[in-house]
Order: sequence, then structure tokens, then C-alpha cells
Amino acid sequence: TTTTALDLVTEARDLRRGIGAFNVVLLEHAEAIVEGAERAGLPVILQISQNAARYHGSFEPIAAASLAIARAAGVPAIVHLDHAEDVELVHAAVELGVQSVMFDGSALPYDENVATTRAVVDHCHAHGVRVEAELGEVGGKDGVHAPGARTRPDEAAAFVAATGVDSLAVAVGTSHAMTDRVATVDRALIVRLAAEVGVPLVLHGSSGLSDDELVAARDAGMTKINISTHLNGLFTAAAREALSADAALVDPRRYISPARAAVAREVQRLLTLLGS
Ligand code: G3H
Ligand code: ZN
Repeated sequence: TTTTALDLVTEARDLRRGIGAFNVVLLEHAEAIVEGAERAGLPVILQISQNAARYHGSFEPIAAASLAIARAAGVPAIVHLDHAEDVELVHAAVELGVQSVMFDGSALPYDENVATTRAVVDHCHAHGVRVEAELGEVGGKDGVHAPGARTRPDEAAAFVAATGVDSLAVAVGTSHAMTDRVATVDRALIVRLAAEVGVPLVLHGSSGLSDDELVAARDAGMTKINISTHLNGLFTAAAREALSADAALVDPRRYISPARAAVAREVQRLLTLLGS
């Protein structure tokens, strides 16, 4: 079922629930994410990053497949463009029918981030597409971890007012692409951000958080919880196990299907953890 991003994320915020947003790298990720969500009986966000589009050489094939899988889902499921720095890609994604986009101007100077994000919001809202932006850069995107980065609540509130974004990614202690779940979140800051920023808050780099920290972040006021690396770790471990168990294995389905099943199980578990 496809619904609007506004409905899913705002509804979760109003219910004080978390909603999982999981990255699609391969077609099988999209299949696994929807399967996990159906088993959990909870809504889900499938997200495709600009980097993943670059890997495939184009956004369209993986986006079209993800949109078809989301439409056929037995639970509300939407497709979101993740970490787009290229405004042309945002326009292409809107054209293809994604329900939500993240414009990531977090590396830009504040004024430029505001101006570019505002233009993206105008375009997207005219097409019924929701916009997430980022302020106070969440590190790790370039392999350099910066769990110390923090978003200032006053600046965040001003940024939301100036740009009209529908949700805001904030830096509260996580860093992207962590392979150990050892990060901690600044709960007091999340509470302040949730009180001062009028839109749902998005947690990036959530792979670095244990179950307890994920729940603490959600309870303090985070709504959209982005998880990628953690699922890829499980996907790859399952594929590696199947490959090393049988040196004569040829058919890729024999090692990709256990990988896909591992992701589906963990998506079901995480959605249940965050969505209750
Ligand atoms: O936008 C995607 C997320 O922030 C994923 O980060 O790979 O550290 O879980 P992660
Ligand atoms: Zn991210």
C-alpha cells in the first residue's frame, strides 16, 4: 500500500512511535524490507541513497522496482530518496513518483543550505512530495566518524521555519556506517529538539545504536530511524556463510536468498521494537 510520507512520519510522531527507514542497495533489500514489515504488520520506509543510485549507474531501475514492491506491500510502504546532494536527482526522483526525498545540504554553509533546501521544498511540495533536510552534519558519510557533532535547537527551529521542510535530520550522537552498536545518543538534546522543532526528527547512522539506545532515542523524541549498515552486515554474513559452506555453489540465488531472509527477520524485529 502506498500512502503519503506526511501521513507515515507525522502519524508515527503523533503516536510517539518510531518508524524504521531501511536502505535499499539491491532489489533483494526492497523485497526483504517489505517482507519484514508485513510480518511485523507495521508501516515502513524504503530509502535509496544518491550513493546507491550512483552504484547502479542510474536511480530509475532500482527506484522503479522499489516503488512496485512498495505498492504491492500489505502494509503502508513508501519510497524515499536518501542523502541527495544533487538537486537534479531530486527532480528526477519526484518525476519517478517517490513519496519523499532527503535533500542533504548539511555540508553547505548555513545560508546556502537554507536557500537550496527552500527551493527543493517549493518544487517537491508542488508535486505532493515531502522533504527531509539535515542540519548539523551527522558524520561518517565519508568514512570519518564524528559522533561529537550536535545540532543546536535554536538554529534547527529557525532552519525549519526558513525552509518549510517536513522533517529534520539532526546530529545527536550517532555517526554513519558504524559496524559496532556502541554509540550513545544525547537524550536531553533530543528532548529539547523535539520541543523546539515543530517537525518530526530523523535519526541517521542508527546502525551504531544498541536496541536499548534505539528505544531511548525514540522515547526522547526521534521518529524516523534510518538503519543501513547493520542490515548490510547481516546480509553479507549470511551470504558469506552460504558461500563458504559450499565451494561448488554457482547459482547466486543460493547465497542471496539466505541473505535476504536475514534482512527480513531483522527488519521485522526492529520495526516491532521501534513501533510499539
Ligand atoms: O541515511 C541512512 C542512514 O543514516 C543509515 O546509516 O548505515 O549508519 O545505519 P547507517
Ligand atoms: Zn544518513
